[in-house]
Amino acid sequence: MEKKKFYITTPIYYPSDKLHIGHTYCTVATDAMARYKRLAGYDVMFLTGTDEHGQKIEDKAKEAGVTPQQFVDRIVDGPQGVRDLWKLMNISNDRFIRTTDDYHVSAIQKIFRKMHDNGDIYKGTYKGKYCKPCESFWTESQLVDGKCPDCGREVQDAEEEAYFFRLSKYADRVRDLLENTDFLQPRSRVNEMVKNFIDPGLEDLCVSRTSFTWGIPVDFDPGHVVYVWVDALFNYTTALGFLNDKYDDYDHYWPADYHFVGKEIVRFHSIIWPAMLMSMGMPLPKHVFGHGWLLLDGGKMSKSKGNVVDPYILAEKFGVDALRFFLMRTFPFGSDGNFSNELLIQTINTDLANDLGNLVSRTTAMAGKYFGGTLPEGCKTWTAPEDCDQSLIAMASGLRDAYEAQMESCAPHNALAEVFKVIQRANKYIDETAPWSLARDMEANGARLAHVLYNLLEATRICGILLSPFMPESMDKLFAQIGAPADARTWESAALWGALPETVTVTKGENLFPRIDMDKAIEELEAAAESARKAALPDIEVEPQLTEKVDFDTFCKSDFRAVKVKACEAVKKSAKLLKFTLDDGTGVDRQILSGIHAWYEPEDLIGKTLIAIVNLPPRKMMGLESNGMLISAVHTEKGEEALHLIMVDDAIPAGAKLC
Ligand code: MSP
Repeated sequence: MEKKKFYITTPIYYPSDKLHIGHTYCTVATDAMARYKRLAGYDVMFLTGTDEHGQKIEDKAKEAGVTPQQFVDRIVDGPQGVRDLWKLMNISNDRFIRTTDDYHVSAIQKIFRKMHDNGDIYKGTYKGKYCKPCESFWTESQLVDGKCPDCGREVQDAEEEAYFFRLSKYADRVRDLLENTDFLQPRSRVNEMVKNFIDPGLEDLCVSRTSFTWGIPVDFDPGHVVYVWVDALFNYTTALGFLNDKYDDYDHYWPADYHFVGKEIVRFHSIIWPAMLMSMGMPLPKHVFGHGWLLLDGGKMSKSKGNVVDPYILAEKFGVDALRFFLMRTFPFGSDGNFSNELLIQTINTDLANDLGNLVSRTTAMAGKYFGGTLPEGCKTWTAPEDCDQSLIAMASGLRDAYEAQMESCAPHNALAEVFKVIQRANKYIDETAPWSLARDMEANGARLAHVLYNLLEATRICGILLSPFMPESMDKLFAQIGAPADARTWESAALWGALPETVTVTKGENLFPRIDMDKAIEELEAAAESARKAALPDIEVEPQLTEKVDFDTFCKSDFRAVKVKACEAVKKSAKLLKFTLDDGTGVDRQILSGIHAWYEPEDLIGKTLIAIVNLPPRKMMGLESNGMLISAVHTEKGEEALHLIMVDDAIPAGAKLC
């Protein structure tokens, strides 16, 4: 029988900065969904990729002194780039599209031309507001307090000849799609879209730009590049081979079953995207799901706010699976959630180390201790099941259906909650049956003990199957420990109590999820984040040069002299100040105080020839008089202030004037 198809996508990411845990959240959710569908027997296509055009990228490349292509290549394919991150996070995408790929570029040109030829794209003048970071055009009425309604940042005036897409023509059909179908989920997003964008009236959308060049050229009108969102949205179809020869499964997989997207790009996916597909006469995706944001201290994560969390650091510290699990278990998928390291560690300790980890390690340890790792025949059945047996078996047998219902409604957090109810039930079952007491009289209770352990292994097996889309690697280890053969790891067997062979051999292996010491881990994370922050800082930074000119006569008024250090000592009660006694060639000692103790020890400076400005008015510091200032060179190195006293050739006599 032909498998049912399931096509799911993540948004394609802007390679303008390194990705953070918020981006990872969206991709992990899509991955868990794709893995679940594969487990359940679907023919899955899972697409992700990168959205590489637009002014923001062009500007960033300029700043970095490279071409836009070089810039995006580094962030997509370079070390710790987008592809590396998805590999690390064990993302099982079937395809990866880059919007700079040739096949995509030429397909977009054909798409643009087609909408132009059918009259839905026309030429006009664009007057309005543009939000550069969001690459979004806004009309005056859409602004919130004069600022971008998406990100709250300043917008700029924009006026240029441009092509427009007749979005207004599709307003009624889009409204109908939103209000009368389950296209957009969760339902609360429908109200947001209708109230904020459809009710005020949909205006035609500006879909080309002439003020920058990093985009797909409109092939019939040189000078125009296609608006980055038109280019980006069609990736979902070009990556399947729509209007190109690179792939040929468009007919097989399109329309998509789900686009998973963050809430700020729901507008593009639920209004503009269907309208353009209608214009092209293409089938619409079945669903768009707008998930919430991971917040940090109540605000959105962003590089510019300096509060991004690095998934590389977290994955290395806690393990990829634990991180994946945390993201899906903790935050209801449609809502915002506050990320914190404390919450992450607490979740790992409670759910994974305590509940799941203990269940596995206690069960395998007892099977080893009491039965040498292999349960005796007959352990599957028990003629007089006790209440606790029945309750555990009923819960575990019904788990797959409960889980499936939650996954089908895009509630992975609830699906995981269902699994953990069974894990907790199983742990309680250990307390209720007290295997260690049964083991005291093996002759009388050995068979009962074997049955109890079999039940525990079965419950663990079923939970393991359903957790595998979230923690694939760890669940493989779990299956190995409980000795589950391949046919006891399948979706079908997750609804089949008793699929584990009776004489299964259990091996107590490594602790799947070690407990984490919260204080120590937080301290280490902070240190790691700090060193990552420092590593990202430029090696050397110098202050920009002053543009204001100083006239020559004024400059000549500053009297710079070579001075020799006769004595130097730290000023009492001051961490910074050194007191210098200097020979300035006048025959009278000169005293200068300088705040450079962080860089120099006094004894290292005695005898050196330095440069001082000697005609500054005297100044008191810590009760001591300073007559002049020593000249140093300053810069920052990895964010730290660095200072070098200017030391000159000792052959230069004290008092020599610099000019
Ligand atoms: N390039 C567009 C998408 C084009 S799709 C045709 C884009 N890229 S993005 O890199 O800025 O964002 C990609 C996804 O990451 C979006 O769905 C966005 O919501 C998500 N996230 C970015 N920060 C996030 C959080 N802090 N929390 C959750 N998701 C977040 O938009």
